[in-house]
Amino acid sequence: MAQVTEADVYGALSQIIDPDLHKNIVRLGFIKDLKIEGGDVSFRIVLTTPACPVKEQMEGQARELVSALPGVASVKVTMDAEVPQGRGFGEKLAVQGIRNIIAVSSGKGGVGKSTVAVNMAVSLARDGARVGLMDADVYGPNVPQMLGVGNMRPDVNVNKLVPLEAHGVRLMSMAVLKPGDEPMILRGPILHGLVKQFLSDVEWGELDYLIVDMPPGTGDVQLSLAQLVPVQGAVLVTTPQEVAVSDVRRALRMFETVNVPVLGVVENMSYFVAPDTGIRYNIFGEGGGRKLAERYGVPFLGEIPMGMEVREGGDRGVPVVVSNPESPQSVAFRRVAEEVARQVSIEALKPELVVLGKAR
Ligand SMILES: Nc1ncnc2c1ncn2[C@@H]1O[C@H](COP(=O)(O)OP(=O)(O)O)[C@@H](O)[C@H]1O
Ligand SMILES: [Mg+2]
Repeated sequence: MAQVTEADVYGALSQIIDPDLHKNIVRLGFIKDLKIEGGDVSFRIVLTTPACPVKEQMEGQARELVSALPGVASVKVTMDAEVPQGRGFGEKLAVQGIRNIIAVSSGKGGVGKSTVAVNMAVSLARDGARVGLMDADVYGPNVPQMLGVGNMRPDVNVNKLVPLEAHGVRLMSMAVLKPGDEPMILRGPILHGLVKQFLSDVEWGELDYLIVDMPPGTGDVQLSLAQLVPVQGAVLVTTPQEVAVSDVRRALRMFETVNVPVLGVVENMSYFVAPDTGIRYNIFGEGGGRKLAERYGVPFLGEIPMGMEVREGGDRGVPVVVSNPESPQSVAFRRVAEEVARQVSIEALKPELVVLGKAR
């Protein structure tokens, strides 16, 4: 019987094209630890994120193609991921160990920015990524409560704050440093310092993604945060309503001026399906997020329906993606998280020229 060679296996696998990076997975260097013992072939496929939406499909394809080679008796495929380091950290404060910082932003408050940030962070962690969540919404820091650790205080290790940990996510927030309900009245420079501290004085460890829940709006403070935090990309949250949409438009422009790539738009509270009748109500209008994304040429990352469980999960400190992972809302959150991870990979592996030349 014919003996299968490494070249045969690479040849077969090079037929698989990564749908986002438009190159074959051999050329992209995704195949690692190829071993051939007689007719037994094993290798790892190392993707750019554990939250890859086409993971299973690629695994199946690889198995099929290699199994079809003459001389192959068995195929062992291990799926793995290594999130690449994002670019654009050069001129900004570098944070050791953090590969990608993703800002979650919105034109105004109350559109579900924190809810999206929390469920996205937990989804990515459940997919196997190392995830941190920084609550930079100094006006209404409620992320610890949403993750059920509102009453905990962080430990200090030598000179660094140790992040809290909840549902697999490392977390730091103004709220855990400053107990009580008094509103924070902070001016730009002080805020600047605070955010800097959250990056440099917190022991984040190794992170694939640090999600930052930004303050709402597009004032000077948001602008300086976007400049200070070495953001790999921004996710904009909106509701379908026209007013919210026009606020997001302003946010899009803001990120453009500070050269932060906009990863896309998430539409939250898109519609409500009555559990008793199954009738769909477009409470805040329809299709605003998608239209906005199309108009500005940024990806549409998905829509999240309304659901009582979403709010209850936030109030109880157990995000809906944990309490009811099969609900339509959870499925939507998970899809958004995968889409964001995908856009981050695309940004990270884009040819350098595109970024330097400010082609966007
Ligand atoms: N898809 C949704 N379905 C139901 N309630 C939601 C949804 N998204 C957010 N909420 C609720 O709306 C309120 C505002 O959300 P929040 O995430 O705090 O907004 P923001 O951070 O933009 O101010 C919260 O009570 C939250 O639980
Ligand atoms: Mg919030």
